[in-house]
Amino acid sequence: MNNKIKFKLSEINQTTKLITREISNFSVVLLRGELGSGKTTIVSYILKELGVTENITSPTFSIVNQYKISGKKINHFDLYRVKSESELDVIGFDEYFDDFSISFIEWPEIAINRIYENYLDIYIKFIDDTTREITLKKSI
Ligand SMILES: Nc1ncnc2c1ncn2[C@@H]1O[C@H](COP(=O)(O)OP(=O)(O)OP(=O)(O)O)[C@@H](O)[C@H]1O
Ligand SMILES: [Mg+2]
Repeated sequence: MNNKIKFKLSEINQTTKLITREISNFSVVLLRGELGSGKTTIVSYILKELGVTENITSPTFSIVNQYKISGKKINHFDLYRVKSESELDVIGFDEYFDDFSISFIEWPEIAINRIYENYLDIYIKFIDDTTREITLKKSI
């Protein structure tokens, strides 16, 4: 797998298909990149690819949205508004991770010490209005 991919919004389907293939080896996926770089957009395409049929929205205010697909739970976090590790306990962060869950985490930095599984790291870089570059990195 090429670990750097530059893509336009019009090519996002193709790119997320490629990422989805990589994800099958992980139960945690982190998404990093500045505000509006495209983290939620990419997650929503990946979730559709995984079989989520519901409308996928940003968990900006809910902190976490949960979806169910064939015996698996999908957690989609946005930790932007979480300012301390103790706030993670308030939302019961640790309980979201089990053998039957796949978690996508935007703004994961505050929770990095609470992630015990191997994860796939996706960095998104803004190139221009419609172009982004992602870099994929595995935790081990
Ligand atoms: N190639 C691209 N990939 C992803 N998004 C793109 C691309 N080109 C343009 N966009 C646009 O950039 C915006 C990205 O918004 P999005 O909410 O996904 O960002 P985000 O990183 O989740 O932001 P936040 O940090 O607020 O959570 C969308 O309006 C999307 O249409
Ligand atoms: Mg977002």
